Amino acid sequence: TYETITVEQRPEPHGAVTLITLNRPQALNALNSQVLEDLIAAFAAFEADDGQRCAVLTGSGDKAFAAGADIKEMADKPAADFYLDDFFARWTSHLVKATRKPWIAAVNGFALGGGCELAMMADFIIASDKAKFGQPEIKLGVAPGMGGSQRLTRAVGKAKAMEMCLTGRMMDAAEAERSGLVARVVPHESLLDEALKTAATIAAMPPMAAIANKEMVNAAFETTLDQGLVVERRIFQILAGSEDKAEGMAAFVEKREGRWKGR
Ligand code: HXC
Repeated sequence: TYETITVEQRPEPHGAVTLITLNRPQALNALNSQVLEDLIAAFAAFEADDGQRCAVLTGSGDKAFAAGADIKEMADKPAADFYLDDFFARWTSHLVKATRKPWIAAVNGFALGGGCELAMMADFIIASDKAKFGQPEIKLGVAPGMGGSQRLTRAVGKAKAMEMCLTGRMMDAAEAERSGLVARVVPHESLLDEALKTAATIAAMPPMAAIANKEMVNAAFETTLDQGLVVERRIFQILAGSEDKAEGMAAFVEKREGRWKGR
């Protein structure tokens, strides 16, 4: 049990999908240190569970995915504490680096500051048509601290990222889709269904290939083209020796569904 999130392992037909919901609606799901501890534990449990193959992260309530890091918690924190705790570092190390299985952010409303940054940690974002994205930290006298200046710039390019960070203006769902920040925009009412359906599709894929595909695409985000192409070829070559490759190709030839071993 968690204090600030709920976690549900979805039954069929959403099998093998973990739904994690930020659950501080009264604070628009602001991300305080307990949320971080809860998410770290929930993602570690998801990662360790062989029966779970894709996760969806969303926000409770009708208004917000997450309205940012918790301003009330940060307001009186001394700078030395931010520095000595390497504040915000564990978000990336646990939710991004240590989570090799795919996960989707289903953004149901405001995704501001740390909320936008958390959504961008996902492998991709599916947004409700009511979603709004922004990095308004400048208005608080600070700046992004969980990847906003880096991941947003890589996602939408310098012009829009710079404008958003400097003015604090929000991007609506249509602009976010146009700009490449989100994979897909869906009607607000069907957001969770669509995200869970997409997650179930991923969960039904050969699990090792899913991890491998994620690792490759991330290499494009983090390395040069030459290095990324090597990563791609090496991972492809590893998959070529997998039992699921033999099964997948046999299943195609025999016109049947594959039965995956995950290795
Ligand atoms: C703590 C928050 C919060 C936040 C909202 N709340 N955002 N509490 N941290 N980030 C709380 C409000 O205080 C209020 O609590 C309740 O949630 C409802 O919010 P309202 O403001 O009344 O709602 P509304 O008028 O609809 O406005 C929605 C909003 C606004 C536009 C999203 O709440 C807002 O601008 N929030 C802050 C967004 C932001 O600046 N995010 C970046 C944070 S900094 P009460 O108790 O009054 O009812 C960050 C990284 C910083 O993420 C890095 C620093 C190192």
